[in-house]
Amino acid sequence: MMLTKDEQAIFDGESGEASQKAMEILAALRKIYGAESLVPVSSVQVAGVSYKNLGEAGRDFIAWWSEHGAKVRSFSTLNPAGIDLKRWKQLGFSKDFSERQKEVVSLYESLGIVPTCTCTPYEIGNTPKFGDHIAWSESSAVSFANSYMGARTNREGGPSALAAAIIGKTPCYGYHLDKNRGPSISFDVKADVASEADFGALGFATGAHAKDAVPLFYGLRPMRQTHFKQLGAAMAASGAVALYHVEKQTPDIRCRGCGEALEKICIESLDDAYSRLNTGGDKVDFVSLGCPHASLEEMREIAGHLKGKRVSVPTWITTSIGTRALSDAYGYLKAIESTGARVVTDTCMVVSPIEEFGYGTVAANSAKGCYYMQSWCGVETRFGDVHQCLDAAISGSWRK
Ligand code: F3S
Repeated sequence: MMLTKDEQAIFDGESGEASQKAMEILAALRKIYGAESLVPVSSVQVAGVSYKNLGEAGRDFIAWWSEHGAKVRSFSTLNPAGIDLKRWKQLGFSKDFSERQKEVVSLYESLGIVPTCTCTPYEIGNTPKFGDHIAWSESSAVSFANSYMGARTNREGGPSALAAAIIGKTPCYGYHLDKNRGPSISFDVKADVASEADFGALGFATGAHAKDAVPLFYGLRPMRQTHFKQLGAAMAASGAVALYHVEKQTPDIRCRGCGEALEKICIESLDDAYSRLNTGGDKVDFVSLGCPHASLEEMREIAGHLKGKRVSVPTWITTSIGTRALSDAYGYLKAIESTGARVVTDTCMVVSPIEEFGYGTVAANSAKGCYYMQSWCGVETRFGDVHQCLDAAISGSWRK
């Protein structure tokens, strides 16, 4: 496959060294995956932001692009960082870590990327349309964009998303193509799935089974947006699911009427998923909500539950600065923070250096969050719906 004339000129260095390097990355990926062409992307979401994961080597990688004058050609936003960029001091992040983290975000900003630092960019303006080709890298956001919005993206790595942002295109393979977007495994859900935690538990159970297949779910009641978020985030964590369909609910018409030939795997119970995500004791040291980053609807629900109460253990609700600002406008921020809970932006408990805080058991309503807090952050978890978690925040203990 030949590059177009314009692409070849970039490949040959006519647009500078940074664009040339970005085109080399995309051309190499195109070759590896057998893509016939590069396709323009309407938006990019770049992961690889937390200094906890990047370290100095990652910082140097981003600095190279900045020093070589790279600028993005597509609208691009950033994934969460390791700190709340404004309130890091009050929240107890170290000065050294915070300075390094802020430098990383500034480097990305110098490339023209909007430093949204959120894994739910679709809540605050990075909102692709059905059928749009995009290059997103945060796994829960990828799943949401493909499945709920009907946009088209592969699970990009940080460097490939950055290269796509700089060139404004991505190799056209995988989930960019109709032929790969149909279901390849199906689940018939008999278990009672009602709360956002139930959807997370369902995703945790089925993701491990599906691995990188495209699941089609039968038997689910009408779902709210937060249910799609939790289901997709968990499947992307316990497996590598980037796209799923729900009978009569997801927008990709290519799944309708297809998938009947697939054998249905019956999901009778979520008990095993719940027990694997509940490893902590009854004393809760910390409560973490907002994974993926909380929406305005979730902020409203949290504010309503906490009204007139006080939390007795540190409690963070992580979200984007945009959703925090909207919550402020509607009074939810004040209602939440007057209880002692904190609305934290730009980060989350998984990508921040939580281990340094020394918590034993963290309660959360996110199956993805619990899975990674156990495996990456070395803490035990309690997993349940938002109301159970908020009750634990108030009492300091976990009640079933
Ligand atoms: Fe987002 Fe952090 Fe969860 S990046 S999906 S809040 S692990």
